[in-house]
Amino acid sequence: MRASHTHSADRERWDARHAVDVAADAGAPAPPDALRGRTELLPAGGRALDVACGRGAVAVWLAARGFAVDAVDVSPVALDAGRELAAREGVTVRWVLHDLDAGLPASEPDSCGAHDVVVCQRFRDPARYPELPALLAPGGLLVITVLSEVDEGPGPFRAAAGELRAAFGALEVLHHVERAGEASLVARVSGPASVPGRR
Ligand SMILES: C[S@@+](CC[C@H](N)C(=O)[O-])C[C@H]1O[C@@H](n2cnc3c(N)ncnc32)[C@H](O)[C@@H]1O
Repeated sequence: MRASHTHSADRERWDARHAVDVAADAGAPAPPDALRGRTELLPAGGRALDVACGRGAVAVWLAARGFAVDAVDVSPVALDAGRELAAREGVTVRWVLHDLDAGLPASEPDSCGAHDVVVCQRFRDPARYPELPALLAPGGLLVITVLSEVDEGPGPFRAAAGELRAAFGALEVLHHVERAGEASLVARVSGPASVPGRR
């Protein structure tokens, strides 16, 4: 993957938000919310992609578990915070400045079908849904959390009830929950699971 053009409105808005967050809190590695209490669903190792990674908490957590991680976001401020967190934790992540409005890095030849784990947490763009499974290798795991209308009511960034299952129900759904304004889904692409160390 390589850096691509960035949409200035998204970038400026999110840079400002991340700058406030960085000033308040240095951040810490954390599993994806949808995998809390079920980290045994993760493949044994391989390559991971964090889509809209923010300040890198999940990307660094995955790297600390031995995954080779690509982490994509539109905000240079967020990626710098991720770099600092990775340095503090002694792990390496490939940080990619990329505007997801231009599509997922699936268009990059080394990304399609290459990842054993794809995480997309609190970045909701239904236009990107059909592209997410294409990033996964056979046996790979999709881990997604979005804001939801369930228990909250409508909102411009919220998924309608059933949105994730409708989008990803063709995969093997291992976990799906919608409550308290969030929806999460963990699903596996059919095929053999990865082996540790494969890139
Ligand atoms: C609510 S934050 C979630 C961050 C992280 N996934 C997490 O769970 O903490 C949404 C993220 O999406 C990123 N983002 C927003 N629009 C984007 C775009 N067009 N392309 C890439 N990233 C974008 C923001 O910079 C921000 O880091």
